[in-house]
Amino acid sequence: MAGLRMRAWALSLPPQVVTNAELAARLDTSEQWIFERTGIRQRHIGGTTRGLGAEALAKAMAAGGLGPDDVDVLVLSTTTPDRQIPQTAIDVQRMVGLSGAAVDINAACSGFVYGLVMAAGLLALGSRRVALLAAETLSAITDWEDRSFAVLAGDGAAAFVLEDGPGELVAWDLGADGSGSELLTCERGGLLRMDGAEVFRRAVRATADSVARTLARAGESASAVGLFVPHQANQRIIEAVAARTGIPMERTALVIDRTGNTSSASIGVALAGAADCGVVEDGDLVLLAGFGAGMTWGSALIRWAT
Ligand code: ACO
Repeated sequence: MAGLRMRAWALSLPPQVVTNAELAARLDTSEQWIFERTGIRQRHIGGTTRGLGAEALAKAMAAGGLGPDDVDVLVLSTTTPDRQIPQTAIDVQRMVGLSGAAVDINAACSGFVYGLVMAAGLLALGSRRVALLAAETLSAITDWEDRSFAVLAGDGAAAFVLEDGPGELVAWDLGADGSGSELLTCERGGLLRMDGAEVFRRAVRATADSVARTLARAGESASAVGLFVPHQANQRIIEAVAARTGIPMERTALVIDRTGNTSSASIGVALAGAADCGVVEDGDLVLLAGFGAGMTWGSALIRWAT
């Protein structure tokens, strides 16, 4: 296996902020209900998936001192492409001015973890450098009259440029269970529909079980995890997963209060934010874990190196 070095990263959030008070003025809900039941205080809304993605990736490329020919493959995770054809990765490739291969993946909110495992595989197969980008505009498929989902949705993107180096993908677990395929859907041209309570129940179980498998494969315990970066869908899900896995909330990255649920971008946004704050240091074990429509799930333990 090749190593895994985080050469550079960046995030992009649209400038418009929508607060709980603004939603409560339009919907049958309250500021207090939203915060107490989800942990969200505000979300960023607006832009396009390709626009947010291109901004995050361009910033990451600049931060890494990288040029147009330095990335072999762009792997872009999104559940919210701006258009069906061509794939969003092609638009981002053109906007950023890259020369390498470009592909979209969709594993719903687990997409960042799926993409990370795929990127590590591409590096192991000889790619010099892989850009992992997760970009989402959930607001575009949100029914703003449906209080059960409208309070969760946010937009954003996060980009990481990965290359061979001193870090590593220590262990991982990816899974899917199509028996849950109707719990969270969006028909072509339609709006997102969700059985929130059932998704909540399955999310806690699937994420905690996936984390347990990854830690077992790595031969590590929860106490060895320096930073836990879960999908930011609902703070109560994060707290339940943390409790089941034995990882304290003090070592768990949280951005949901500021960003809402940005689907597959959320783990990247939380990880980039933590890295920018110096919360994670070279050599730390960082555990990523997500779940999403499908249902899909995934977790990955990485030895952080920059
Ligand atoms: N404001 C006020 N009341 C509300 C709201 C709201 N925004 N939303 C639901 N309620 C009400 C319900 O109508 C219900 O009322 P009732 O008891 O009179 O019937 C009551 O609150 C309880 O409903 P629950 O669904 O049990 O509420 P819960 O506390 O579970 O919160 C939520 C709902 C936030 C949707 C939660 O279930 C959740 O977070 N589910 C998981 C979401 C998720 O992780 N999705 C996957 C990622 S998204 C993606 O993949 C794109």
